[in-house]
Amino acid sequence: TSPVVIAIDGPSGSGKSSVSKAVAARLGLAYLDTGAMYRAATVWGMATADLADAGAVTTAVRAMPLVMGLDPVAPGVELDGKDVAETIRTTEVTTNVSKVASNLDVRAELKRLQREIIDQESGAQAVQSGGRGIVAEGRDITTVVAPDADVRVLLTASEEARLRRRSLEVHGADDASAVEATKDQVLRRDQDDAKVTQFLVAADGVVTVDSSDLDFEQTVDAVLAVVTQVT
Ligand code: C5P
Repeated sequence: TSPVVIAIDGPSGSGKSSVSKAVAARLGLAYLDTGAMYRAATVWGMATADLADAGAVTTAVRAMPLVMGLDPVAPGVELDGKDVAETIRTTEVTTNVSKVASNLDVRAELKRLQREIIDQESGAQAVQSGGRGIVAEGRDITTVVAPDADVRVLLTASEEARLRRRSLEVHGADDASAVEATKDQVLRRDQDDAKVTQFLVAADGVVTVDSSDLDFEQTVDAVLAVVTQVT
């Protein structure tokens, strides 16, 4: 069987990353976290340029020494030879990432890198080395980066479910004050992101999976069912 490309988009707190990793691990596929690339670009931009200077950020990102690890069980992110897996998840980076992601030249450069990785994992080269394909997740994978993917899924969840999940993830609690504290990280960011990427409604041909009332395993199974249906 030829390598498969699975594209998964969704808002913050939809469970996209953990579900995508599990799907990739289950099917023996590579895994690409494109959000991690925007986060790495933000770390690099903050370290080497002034984030307010779009031209300088673009130049920095074009020269960014980024290496993405594609193992779904341990997907690494390396910047200039250093493991930045934790740095890219800090509140400071989460707060600034939408600004960097709204820079269209940065988007063009990251799209180019993402296409390169997807082609490497699904093209002739992959066939030769026994590669089985890739799961790529983000905000614009089903629409811009890989509109030609074999499987395209929009993973959604109610605002309440997304706030609760992100709150548990970040604060280890989902009481009212913890949920309140994640609002900026979830709702404000989605609002900003939705100005440049289209992940709130499914594009033509994209299958919606709503995880509001599903637990983790059920969500993974629902996505796997779409994969089976479509491929
Ligand atoms: O998925 P994650 O929350 O890690 O994404 C971080 C940020 O990267 C998003 O808030 C968005 O600004 C940006 N992003 C994007 N396009 C993608 C993936 C992420 O603009 N395909």
